[in-house]
Amino acid sequence: MLKIWIVGSNGQIGSAIKEVVDPLEMEVLNTDIDELDITDTEEVLNYGGISRPDVIINCAAITDTELCEKDPEAAYRVNALGARNLSLIARKMGAKIVQLSTDDVFDGEGNIPYSEFDDTHPKSVYGRSKRAGENYVKEFTHKHFIVRSSWVYGKGNNFVNKVLDAAKKGETLSVASDQIGSPTSAKDLARIILHLIKTNEYGTYHATCKGVCSRYEFAQEILKHAGKEIELKAVAASEVSSERPAYAVLDNFILRIIDVYNMPDWKTSLEEYMNEKRED
Ligand SMILES: NC(=O)c1ccc[n+]([C@@H]2O[C@H](COP(=O)([O-])OP(=O)(O)OC[C@H]3O[C@@H](n4cnc5c(N)ncnc54)[C@H](OP(=O)(O)O)[C@@H]3O)[C@@H](O)[C@H]2O)c1
Repeated sequence: MLKIWIVGSNGQIGSAIKEVVDPLEMEVLNTDIDELDITDTEEVLNYGGISRPDVIINCAAITDTELCEKDPEAAYRVNALGARNLSLIARKMGAKIVQLSTDDVFDGEGNIPYSEFDDTHPKSVYGRSKRAGENYVKEFTHKHFIVRSSWVYGKGNNFVNKVLDAAKKGETLSVASDQIGSPTSAKDLARIILHLIKTNEYGTYHATCKGVCSRYEFAQEILKHAGKEIELKAVAASEVSSERPAYAVLDNFILRIIDVYNMPDWKTSLEEYMNEKRED
């Protein structure tokens, strides 16, 4: 049975992997910052050496982009050096490693979906620290999957919940109509990760749901499923958030050409998520 170690297991993507994994197929070890701080090199080496997982899935990160701008040292410590520490133990044990990454490694100034072969050019501290994490993983391990995604929503702080909160309070919401991306449910991302780790198809992957929309259209679709109506104002991205790439569309190029996995359409995934939320 494959033994997997989910690092950052209380976050959105870590939680989704815990939910989706089949316990009859894989043994799961979970840690988050309270159990193990990935910036502590000795602790990481000790934990990995004792628990000996076959696969390390690194979902731990500082994902608050504003916090990264304010405290770049913390961003690099966790997003870059944390990934390095996990790579060191992965290499030592011959384990596979999955490094979660982001469209923020691109500058978002283009208008053609970014493929895995496009040069990175991050503009924010968050994006630069995540690229540094990717580079450490590439440098220290060869059995790696770098999985970049974008506009992920699951359990926790995310755009879907922000829109639903505003709807509950009846607030007017200003949403960027010039920010373009592919909303991706954390569960769909979890499923592709759990698929990839059973293979030896190492390398960098873009994994987002199919289809593209603006933040504004995304908000409209969320409200439609919630059956709520609030005033939505379409504004320029610069009026609401300056740090995120305007064009966040990733092309799932490798998944397509090796034809191993098909990501669902973003609207279908959102519907599944909203239905589950209603049942909770
Ligand atoms: N969300 C997105 O839209 C998105 C898109 C593309 C890629 N990603 C990538 O996917 C990964 C997971 O994202 P997510 O949305 O699940 O993030 P998240 O919800 O913020 O979860 C990250 C988890 O890591 C923990 N953590 C922070 N510092 C740590 C440390 N030093 N040691 C151990 N754990 C630590 C966090 O704990 P605290 O909450 O206590 O800090 C949190 O539980 C990240 O690498 C992110 O860059 C996310």
